Amino acid sequence: MNKEKSSRQKTIGFEAVDQARDPLAFTHYLNKVNSLEAIRNYKSKVHALLEVRDGDSILDIGCGVGIDTEEIAELFGPNIKITGIDNSEKMIKAANSSLTNKKNHTQIRYVVGDACSLDFKDNEFDIVRADRTFQHLIDPKRALREMVRVTKPGGKILVIDANWKSLEIKGISRENSELIKKTYGAIIQNPNIAIKLKKLMIEAGIKEDQIYFEKTQLVFSNLSSIEDVLWIEDSLNEAEKMGTITQEDKLKCMRDVKRADSDYVQATIELYIVKGIKA
Ligand SMILES: C[S@@+](CC[C@H](N)C(=O)[O-])C[C@H]1O[C@@H](n2cnc3c(N)ncnc32)[C@H](O)[C@@H]1O
Repeated sequence: MNKEKSSRQKTIGFEAVDQARDPLAFTHYLNKVNSLEAIRNYKSKVHALLEVRDGDSILDIGCGVGIDTEEIAELFGPNIKITGIDNSEKMIKAANSSLTNKKNHTQIRYVVGDACSLDFKDNEFDIVRADRTFQHLIDPKRALREMVRVTKPGGKILVIDANWKSLEIKGISRENSELIKKTYGAIIQNPNIAIKLKKLMIEAGIKEDQIYFEKTQLVFSNLSSIEDVLWIEDSLNEAEKMGTITQEDKLKCMRDVKRADSDYVQATIELYIVKGIKA
């Protein structure tokens, strides 16, 4: 299912940004979405969960344009080292250019690489994290094993992801909210990976009593932030191309979204935060 999905999905999709119709749209997407209040709020919570100590080396998998990578370097001081990896050269280029002339540039390095096959030694990092990356991976099980492999004994592994199967939009019809959820279920590589993260961690060798788990909810409460996060029209177009929804359904849904009262529209989605300690 996954391979088929990814090969049909070249015009939209974070699993292969460099092959997308407009890769730069994805870098803009991350800059915009990461500035939204709901995202800022959960980011500060998960940065605290890293419990970084002086001298720690950190790996940020699927670092995108490097927003979290830079924030972590800034937050935890000059004695930590952080590596950001992403399989998109365009993302890594954007991350590197954001870094130019910044004072913390010596703490940070960016490399192009695949989460499912990490080019790092065993037990190399104190902390390994992946935020909203697993939903896009071709082989999330392997990626989690790789995360555990490159983490030092006693080190932390933190994976954060959204459960697209929980997406709900209020302020449009229930039918159209369901259609948008179905769309995301089709265009995202692993729409409900979030609910499987704890199990994947256990399978990757983390003991259950060494796992911290939290489920929270992201709330986007105006039309413009919902559009920023969901790219509704592009996503519906993609689902139509994949044959998941009909053109008629898409047009009906877009009319509903355009007519919606911005002040009464609200999108909610579950976010899972899973942290494990390697024995
Ligand atoms: C939704 S973005 C999240 C970026 C960042 N972690 C954040 O929270 O802003 C997902 C990122 O994962 C990257 N990605 C997708 N598949 C990957 C893979 N197999 N290996 C490494 N990075 C990957 C994408 O290029 C993209 O930058």
